[in-house]
Amino acid sequence: MWGAPGVCQNPSMTPARVVLRAATADDDSFVVEMARHACVIEDRPLPDSDDDEVLEMLPPVGLVPIIAEDHSGTPLGAVWAYYGKPPLRCDSAGVPLPELCIAVAPGRRGAGVGGMLLDALFAALAEDHDAMCTNVHVRNPAKRLYERKGFRSVGQGNGPLGIAMIKDLRSNPTTGSGSRPA
Ligand SMILES: CC(C)(COP(=O)(O)OP(=O)(O)OC[C@H]1O[C@@H](n2cnc3c(N)ncnc32)[C@H](O)[C@@H]1OP(=O)(O)O)[C@@H](O)C(=O)NCCC(=O)NCCS
Repeated sequence: MWGAPGVCQNPSMTPARVVLRAATADDDSFVVEMARHACVIEDRPLPDSDDDEVLEMLPPVGLVPIIAEDHSGTPLGAVWAYYGKPPLRCDSAGVPLPELCIAVAPGRRGAGVGGMLLDALFAALAEDHDAMCTNVHVRNPAKRLYERKGFRSVGQGNGPLGIAMIKDLRSNPTTGSGSRPA
C-alpha cells in the first residue's frame, strides 16, 4: 500500500526519493526510537525506551506503522496511530479516536518527510475511522504542520501545555486541508 516512491522537496536540500512502506519486525527498534523522539520537544534529553510515555505510544498489536526510507533503505521517519489511556478525545458515540504518533530522524526534518507520512496515515485510517486526534505541546513547531494538514485545535490536551487537535478524515482524507505557505 505504501510502496510508491515520492519526491521529497526542500529548497535548501537536494530532492531525495523517499519510499513509504509498511513496517516489518526489523523496524521494531527504529519504531521505539521514533516514539522516544515523539515524546520530547526542543532539545530535551530523550526518554528511555522503557519510559511509560514511550511504551504507551508504541503501536498496538495489529497496527502496522508506516516507515519512510531513503533510496539507500535508511529509515527516515515513522508514523502510526495508538490509543492513549485515558483517551485524548472520543467521538460522539464515546469511542476513543486514534491518536497520532509521528517522528522524523533528527537531521532529516524539514524536508517534507513528515507531511508525506501524515498523508499516508490519513489515507490508511480513513478506511475505518471518521477522525483522529493528537496532543501537541504548545511550543512544538509540529503544530504548524498539523494545521496545514487539517488538524484543528479543540482545547486542552495532556498537561498544562498540551493542546488537543482533531483531524476529520472524511473531508479530505488524502492530503488534509491547507497548503504550505510560500
Ligand atoms: C514533527 C515532525 C514529525 C515533522 O516532520 P518533518 O519531516 O520535519 O515535516 P515536514 O518537513 O513535512 O514539514 C515541516 C514542518 O514540520 C514542523 N517541524 C517540527 N519540527 C521541525 C524541525 N525540527 N525541523 C523542521 N520542521 C519541523 C514545522 O511545522 C515545519 O513547518 P514550518 O517550516 O512551516 O515550520 C518532525 O519535525 C519531528 O520528528 N519532530 C520531533 C518529534 C515530534 O515533535 N513529533 C510530534 C509529537 S506531537
